[in-house]
Amino acid sequence: MKTLIIYYSLQGNTKFTSLELANIIEADTLELIPQNPIKSKGFSKFIWGGKQVVTNELPKLKPYNFKQSEYDQIIIASPIWASRFTPTISTFLSENEIPGNIALIATHEGSNCTKAFQKIMDKLPNCNLIGTLDLLKPLKKQEETMFKLKQFSEKLK
Ligand SMILES: Cc1cc2nc3c(=O)[nH]c(=O)nc-3n(C[C@H](O)[C@H](O)[C@H](O)COP(=O)(O)O)c2cc1C
Repeated sequence: MKTLIIYYSLQGNTKFTSLELANIIEADTLELIPQNPIKSKGFSKFIWGGKQVVTNELPKLKPYNFKQSEYDQIIIASPIWASRFTPTISTFLSENEIPGNIALIATHEGSNCTKAFQKIMDKLPNCNLIGTLDLLKPLKKQEETMFKLKQFSEKLK
C-alpha cells in the first residue's frame, strides 16, 4: 500500500506529526508551502491567518510535484485555523482532484474538529474516508502523539 501524506504546517506541529507518521507507515510526504508565507512568530499570524480563512482566500503555492496515480491512499494533514482546515489545503484541493482512499489529520489547541473534517470531505466528493485523527498540541505532547499515530497507522494498512 503506497501512501502520500500531504501537509501544511506554520509552526511545526503538523510537520512533526506528518513526518513521524510517514516514518511509521513508510509513506512519502508532500509539504505545501505558500508563495507568501505568514510569519510563524508573533500575534500577526492570527490576524493574517484568520483573515485568509474568513475571506476564503486561496493562497498561491510554491510549485509542487503531485502524482496522484502513484498512490493507493492519501493523507491530508493541517492545523486548525478558525475551526477549519487551512486555506493552503483549500488551494491544493482546488488545483487537484483526489479520488480514492483518504485519511485526514488535524492538529489544534482544543477545537472540536468534527466540522472541519466534514467541510474538507465536502471538497472531496469522490473519496472514501478511511479515518480521521485530531491531535492536541503534538509538539508539547509528543509521547501521546506517537501513541495515537501508532494506533491510527493500524487503520491505514
Ligand atoms: C490563524 C490561526 C488560527 C487558529 N485557530 C485555531 C482554532 O480555531 N482552534 C484551535 O484549536 N487552534 C487554533 N489555532 C492553533 C493551531 O491549530 C495549532 O497550534 C496547530 O497545531 C498549529 O499547527 P502547526 O504548528 O503545524 O502550524 C490557530 C492558529 C493560527 C495560527
